Amino acid sequence: MTLYGVGLGPGADDLVTVRGRRVLDRADVVYSPGRLSRAVATEHVPEANIGDVSFPMTRDEAELRRAWKAAAAEIAPRARDGDAAFVTLGDPNVYSTFGHLRRTLDAFHPDVEVKVVPGVSAMTAFATALDVEIEAGAGLALREAAGGAAPTGPDRMVLFKVTDAPATAGTLNDAGYDVTFGRRLFMDAGETTITDDADRLADRDYYTLAYAERRGLDTSRATDGFDVGAVEDAGSDAGSGVESAAETDPDDAVTDGGPHAAEYAAAAAHGDPLGGTR
Ligand SMILES: C[S@@+](CC[C@H](N)C(=O)[O-])C[C@H]1O[C@@H](n2cnc3c(N)ncnc32)[C@H](O)[C@@H]1O
Repeated sequence: MTLYGVGLGPGADDLVTVRGRRVLDRADVVYSPGRLSRAVATEHVPEANIGDVSFPMTRDEAELRRAWKAAAAEIAPRARDGDAAFVTLGDPNVYSTFGHLRRTLDAFHPDVEVKVVPGVSAMTAFATALDVEIEAGAGLALREAAGGAAPTGPDRMVLFKVTDAPATAGTLNDAGYDVTFGRRLFMDAGETTITDDADRLADRDYYTLAYAERRGLDTSRATDGFDVGAVEDAGSDAGSGVESAAETDPDDAVTDGGPHAAEYAAAAAHGDPLGGTR
């Protein structure tokens, strides 16, 4: 019938999507590529439903091809006879083992139908965990930073596979970026750490990412136009300062131009009077 690639989210069992949970409930067998994804999966399905595949931690391409071929040979008949699921942390289509499996199935078992259920990726979960707002109109790039690498270029970057946080931070700081690290974000296993101090993360943990933002970016916003003093004065006269700000300022932002005027106009044309501000 079908192989479902199911994204489990960043590692907390209650961040699996409702659709992902339904697919796991229905699947005759659930395969997981690693210990952590298996731990999340077994919060939702009985151990007896977990299938057996393994992927070696190696860069030897011939060995990897053998492992993917063996996994595909194990999974294909189960996905022909019934429904099977292959779970990954985060999203199955973002830096994931699932891509290798799907290409191997396409090559050797093209009759197997494959569907994907998206998951909450660390690529987006980081923003909430690190309290970063990626505003409408801002660019955001995804890069790797294994082995102390420190890619530069984009104004804002998420860096996966950070294995030497002090080296990555040192180079990026010198290149004009502020860097915040996040380890085991929204993950039930292990301790979550969020810090600007790379030395706190000098030990290696695969589940570490970084957010790098170029210093001195123009971060002017329509909401900067709120005059808090004036709002408080108006509030003491009229009873509710918050209400009067909400009633007046968004309209000012739409009609007065400013750095986001074109964006507001485009959003308004699509029926969203506040544009990307909500
Ligand atoms: C091979 S990628 C897998 C990404 C995953 N498919 C996703 O969509 O989030 C693994 C890298 O993602 C980052 N990562 C994944 N989950 C994380 C989490 N819960 N906390 C921090 N970093 C995480 C780490 O940088 C890790 O080295």
